[in-house]
Amino acid sequence: MKKLAALALFFFVISIQAQTKKASTSPLPRVIILATGGTIAGSGASSTEAAYTAGKIPIENLLNAVPEIHQIAQIKGEQIAQIGSQDMNIATWLKLSQRINELFEKDEVDAVVLTHGTDTLEETAYFLSLTIASDKPVVLVGAMRPATAMSQDGNRNLLDAVMVAADQKSIGHGVVVAMNESVYAARDVTKTNTTNMATFQSRNFGPIGLIFDGKVNYYYKSIRNSAQKFDVSQRKTLPKVAIVYGYADATSSAIEAAIKDGAQGIVYAGMGNGNYNEAVGKALITASKNNILICRSARAGAGQVTLFNEVDDAALGFVVADDLNPQKARILLMLALTKTNDKKKIQDYFLKY
Ligand code: SIN
Repeated sequence: MKKLAALALFFFVISIQAQTKKASTSPLPRVIILATGGTIAGSGASSTEAAYTAGKIPIENLLNAVPEIHQIAQIKGEQIAQIGSQDMNIATWLKLSQRINELFEKDEVDAVVLTHGTDTLEETAYFLSLTIASDKPVVLVGAMRPATAMSQDGNRNLLDAVMVAADQKSIGHGVVVAMNESVYAARDVTKTNTTNMATFQSRNFGPIGLIFDGKVNYYYKSIRNSAQKFDVSQRKTLPKVAIVYGYADATSSAIEAAIKDGAQGIVYAGMGNGNYNEAVGKALITASKNNILICRSARAGAGQVTLFNEVDDAALGFVVADDLNPQKARILLMLALTKTNDKKKIQDYFLKY
């Protein structure tokens, strides 16, 4: 009996040792960091003054500045652009989407981290979430203070973003933004403050996860954040869509200018629940009759724009943005117009995507 117990103990110890060995030798996840510029790659003349130039520091220097990332993942870096994100554009969005899809298709990486300026980070995140055909993690990250600043946030944010990308729990959450110890769904996140480090918020729903001390915990999953909705693999450009801002006593001039500029769609950033005054209303209705797709959104920053409240959308041929802010509604409308002009279908996209 004693002999049997000793034998069982022996095999138990051997199997634990084998498991430990397997765990410690299993390769780290392969994470590629695609760099586009922004403040996270920004450089200033002094550590205490705010002035700096975005997009100055190349990817190699960013990676060397945070050696801890190499303990979490097998890291590769690739410079896609070196711009302030106010200069982000459709050509770069398409390039990013096509490159990320290629990396996943060829199984070259397990996850992507994208360093990006914060000004349009939410737009890139939403564009990618609609066009990436994989449930592997794609994590966007930026910084509010340049690498040369005394209290720079880029290094910690980058480490956190790599950690989120490398974590198995991130699979299936779609494209996310990791900033300031929080994880946000691409669709819902927005920049809310011009200079503060806690600028990113999801005003309607909050973060889906929290990051602390090298760990991410998820609490929610966005049900609108999975599976590729638009294939842009062959596209070189997108239909033109303009945003027109609503305000008291606005005239129709911005709408007329957008149409003259060739807009196929207009996202109207309306007052309250997407409302407009008489002059703007007339111009929007005329545009809609001339087959320009009109989407009512809101300048308020939170909440939904609802169908058929003060405006009879079906009769006027308008669609509503639901809870997408104007800049995100523009992205969905541009992509929608690559597939259809059918207003009912486009409205359906806005209520589902
Ligand atoms: C930018 O968006 O490139 C400049 C601002 C920033 O990254 O915080």
